[in-house]
Amino acid sequence: MQEPCTSSLVPARLTPRLKTAEFGRVYRYLAEVDSTNSLARALAEAGAPSGALVAAEIQTGGRGRLGRPWVSPPGGIWLSLLLRPPLTPAAAPLQTLLAAVALREVLQEGEGLQAAIKWPNDVLCRGKKVAGILTEMKAKGGELEYLVAGVGINANFPGTLLPPHLREKGGTLMDLLGRPLDRPGLVSAFLLAWEGYYRQAVEEGYGEALAKWRRHNVTLGKRVLIDTGRGRAAGRALDIDAGGGLIVETGPGCRETFLAGEVTLLEG
Ligand code: BTN
Repeated sequence: MQEPCTSSLVPARLTPRLKTAEFGRVYRYLAEVDSTNSLARALAEAGAPSGALVAAEIQTGGRGRLGRPWVSPPGGIWLSLLLRPPLTPAAAPLQTLLAAVALREVLQEGEGLQAAIKWPNDVLCRGKKVAGILTEMKAKGGELEYLVAGVGINANFPGTLLPPHLREKGGTLMDLLGRPLDRPGLVSAFLLAWEGYYRQAVEEGYGEALAKWRRHNVTLGKRVLIDTGRGRAAGRALDIDAGGGLIVETGPGCRETFLAGEVTLLEG
C-alpha cells in the first residue's frame, strides 16, 4: 500500500488545512531528525512561541516513555508541540492527558476506529497501541517555563516495521484501516481538538477532559501490573486522581497512587 503524495506533512500540505488559532501556526518540518522533542526543546530555548509544532518524516533517535527508544519509520506521524501554559509543573501530566483524549476522539469519530486510552496516555485502536505521548518540560522557580508534548502515531506504514517484541500489542493505523490515511487531515483534526481541550482546561479546569478519559479508558476496574522502572506492583486500578495519577488497590485497604509507569492489563 503506497500513500499518496497529498498525505505528506510538508508545510504546503498541512498549513492550509489547519483550523487552529495557535497550535501549529509556527511549523517546522524536517525530512529527518533525531527526535522532534529534542528539536522542539531547542526551539523553546531559542524563544519559539507556545503552539509551535515540529514534525519529521523519520526520527533516527525517537524517544519513548521510561527511557525506551521509539521506532519512527517513514509514514508515521512524529510530532512535538511546544506549550507555555500558565501552570505549575505538577499539571504537566494533565497536559499529556488532554492530547490523548483529543487523539482518541479524532481516531474514533474521524476514522471510525474503535479507540480507547490505556493509562497513562497510550492510544489503542481495536486493542492495539497505535500512539504514545512523551511529555518533557522545563521548570524555573516553581513555574513551568515550557512543556514539549511529543506524539508518535503509527500511521501509514505496515506493522512489520515495528520491532518484533512490539508487534503483539502494537499496531498501525494503515493495517487496521486496510488503507493509508490522510496524514495532514488527521493532524489538523487532532490539533484542533487538542487546542479545544487545552483552552478549556486553562480557562475552566480539567473536569471535562478527566471525565472523557474515564469514559474511554481500558484500565480502570481491571487488575493491573504496574512497572515504574524502579519496581513493580499489582492490584486493581480504581481511578485516576485530579492530577492524572493512577490509584491502585494493591492490597486489602491499601491504596497507592502512581504518577508514571507501564501498565499490563491482567484481565480483558
Ligand atoms: C511512548 O513511549 O508511548 C511515548 C512515545 C512518544 C514518541 C514521540 S514521536 C514524536 C516525539 N519525539 C520523540 O522522540 N518522542 C515523541
